[in-house]
Amino acid sequence: MKKYEEVPYFKGIDDRRNILSKDDLKGNYTILIFYPKHLPGEYSEEVLQISQQHIKYNKISGIEGFDVNLIIVTPDTEEYLAGLRDENDLDITFISDKNLEISNLFNVIERDSVQRKAYILDRWVRLRDVCEDTNPIFVDKLYEKIENIVFDDFSIDNNIEFRRAKRSFSIKKVSDLEIKKIIEAATKAPSCFNNQPWRYHVINSDEKLKKSFEYIPDGNYWMKYSSALIAVYSKKEDDCALNDSRDYFLFDTGMSVANLLLQATKMGIIAHPVAGYKSEKLKKFLNIDDESVLITVIAVGYPGAGEYLTEKHIEVENGPRIRKELDDILKWN
Ligand SMILES: Cc1cc2nc3c(=O)[nH]c(=O)nc-3n(C[C@H](O)[C@H](O)[C@H](O)COP(=O)(O)O)c2cc1C
Repeated sequence: MKKYEEVPYFKGIDDRRNILSKDDLKGNYTILIFYPKHLPGEYSEEVLQISQQHIKYNKISGIEGFDVNLIIVTPDTEEYLAGLRDENDLDITFISDKNLEISNLFNVIERDSVQRKAYILDRWVRLRDVCEDTNPIFVDKLYEKIENIVFDDFSIDNNIEFRRAKRSFSIKKVSDLEIKKIIEAATKAPSCFNNQPWRYHVINSDEKLKKSFEYIPDGNYWMKYSSALIAVYSKKEDDCALNDSRDYFLFDTGMSVANLLLQATKMGIIAHPVAGYKSEKLKKFLNIDDESVLITVIAVGYPGAGEYLTEKHIEVENGPRIRKELDDILKWN
């Protein structure tokens, strides 16, 4: 099982004799811990500590109603586990895995015995982390790991936060392979009826680039230092066009470009879309049909020192990201 992969489907009987399956875990984070039969010695103390942490787990996000599923799977019978829960007033759900079906699915059996191991799953029931450290660190490690995951998930994605319309390119060429990868990310965008109306034309040969730069106005002088230009075009006929002027080709292509920008950021590549180019001339040069709109051109390159930038652009490059307040763009109900 790899990180970010959904765990396999499983179903078991809990200590209240209810059926509990993977589907019941959806929508909450889950700590799924496997223990050997009869929770020997030191482990029973550990289970008590983990149960006491449940309240703390539920407070990690600071959001009311946030609930972490805390589930222990052992080969013990439901009666044994119900007794254990009641005796110790445990705030935990047990699954009785008598035939070791779930333990086998999660690969926790070694030398005919279930090994103590915790899986941390997210709201999609994807594997996010594993904890198998030895006593007495286990309980603390478990808390630290789930706390890190939730903090990370609840913050804005690193690449969304980091992406900027940068202009300082290095002279090093971005490889075709990397360009293909960022365009592949672009193709993962949703589109109306899955029409995928976006079209990409990469210009990265020296000769074609030189000619294309002739269609870039002086205001966008910095684009002439990029390693590649990606022309993005689409046409109304290639996507949903609904009666009330809702033509989705521009919208869907925009979503696709957003994916491209984020994938590029993730790979350490600047991808800066612009509207400033001589559209008709560039369209002709690239043999783009008349019906299509050349929506944007994306300047691509590795980050560099940008010695060629004007004072104004140096300031923007290192300046704060200016955004409207949420209240100016958001209404509720
Ligand atoms: C459709 C579009 C057209 C743009 N045109 C230009 C342009 O012609 N020249 C330029 O330097 N930046 C251009 N930009 C970049 C924007 O100025 C930049 O995204 C905006 O100021 C926000 O800054 P940020 O992307 O760093 O957050 C364009 C961006 C978009 C999405």
